[in-house]
Amino acid sequence: MINVGIVGGTGYTGVELLRLLAQHPQVNVKAITSRSETGVKVCDMYPNLRGHYDTLAFSEPDAKALGAMDAVFFATPHGVAHALAGELLANGTRVIDLSADFRLRDADEWSRWYDQPHGAPELLEEAVYGLPEMHREKIKTARLIAVPGCYPTAVQLGYLPLLEAGLIDPNQLIADCKSGVTGAGRGAKVASLLAEASESMKAYGAGGHRHLPEIRQGLGDMQPNPVGLTFVPHLTPMIRGIHATLYSTLTAEPEDLQALFEQRYANEPFVDVMPAGSHPETRSVKGNNTCRIAVHRPGNGNTVVVLSVIDNLVKGASGQAIQNLNLMFGFDEHMGLNAPALMP
Ligand SMILES: NC(=O)c1ccc[n+]([C@@H]2O[C@H](COP(=O)([O-])OP(=O)(O)OC[C@H]3O[C@@H](n4cnc5c(N)ncnc54)[C@H](OP(=O)(O)O)[C@@H]3O)[C@@H](O)[C@H]2O)c1
Repeated sequence: MINVGIVGGTGYTGVELLRLLAQHPQVNVKAITSRSETGVKVCDMYPNLRGHYDTLAFSEPDAKALGAMDAVFFATPHGVAHALAGELLANGTRVIDLSADFRLRDADEWSRWYDQPHGAPELLEEAVYGLPEMHREKIKTARLIAVPGCYPTAVQLGYLPLLEAGLIDPNQLIADCKSGVTGAGRGAKVASLLAEASESMKAYGAGGHRHLPEIRQGLGDMQPNPVGLTFVPHLTPMIRGIHATLYSTLTAEPEDLQALFEQRYANEPFVDVMPAGSHPETRSVKGNNTCRIAVHRPGNGNTVVVLSVIDNLVKGASGQAIQNLNLMFGFDEHMGLNAPALMP
């Protein structure tokens, strides 16, 4: 049994960590922070957690208390983990950061995209990018994990088999992605209001979104050539879910694309390659840590279309964070992540 802390427990990824960890047989959530809700009991704010965390209450983030934990999750805006991670690591506490603070290896590039200096460049070298399908062995011994973003997870898992096999042109990739509204967090914003977001759909960040350099870096690690990626995210009127439609151009004649995907992910517990001809739905992964994928070659032409769906709060954030924790502490990778998706 290990003790864990969560910094940022009132946000959507924080409460999703609580929901999933309630079923984890080896984890005791000992500390949970919120500056705005200090003293409030977790189950008073989130009644779905009644019966699971009856005494746990939000507290101010305190490095000493967090440093007594075996592991701490940061479910906070960027910049917060920069400030605290070094002290926690020095105390022997492992850090799993759901924000973008340690995802980019280049501190200058991070500063350009996030409009502020990098707060902990000295930790970048040891940070491990927590995409288990790419970095499982490194994750097992890591002290500091950068959990991938939601769009980056759906896009990278969709392109991975094709890029590793050298079958497509890495310089001509197009990722057309849709997200549910929880992707923007729980803070009040006009764009997230019911009357603004429902019954409508819009693209955003077409000229350059913060997830672009992260996805480019990840796709670059899968093969040796420069990556050219057009990434256009869209806001859609659903609560959870990411749908990525991924286009690429074949440079070699593949033997069997379906078999390629099935073989690459045969031993991956959280990637489900659907039967040929399928169109995965975001609702099929709601509340669940699976990335569901289908591969198509329309008209047997030059273009491959991969459809990849995840729940942004689970495989796109808190579920993947727990998958990393399981690997780091030698637990079964499924622990806390076994429940099937909600349907309908
Ligand atoms: N939402 C998604 O689908 C998703 C997916 C992947 C990754 N992420 C990333 O995960 C992180 C959390 O996202 P979210 O959607 O859960 O955010 P959120 O709903 O906005 O919640 C943010 C949480 O952080 C706390 N917080 C804010 N500023 C803080 C500070 N300076 N120090 C300590 N705590 C602070 C807030 O509580 P108090 O202000 O009360 O302290 C709140 O509990 C973000 O970096 C986000 O980019 C989100």
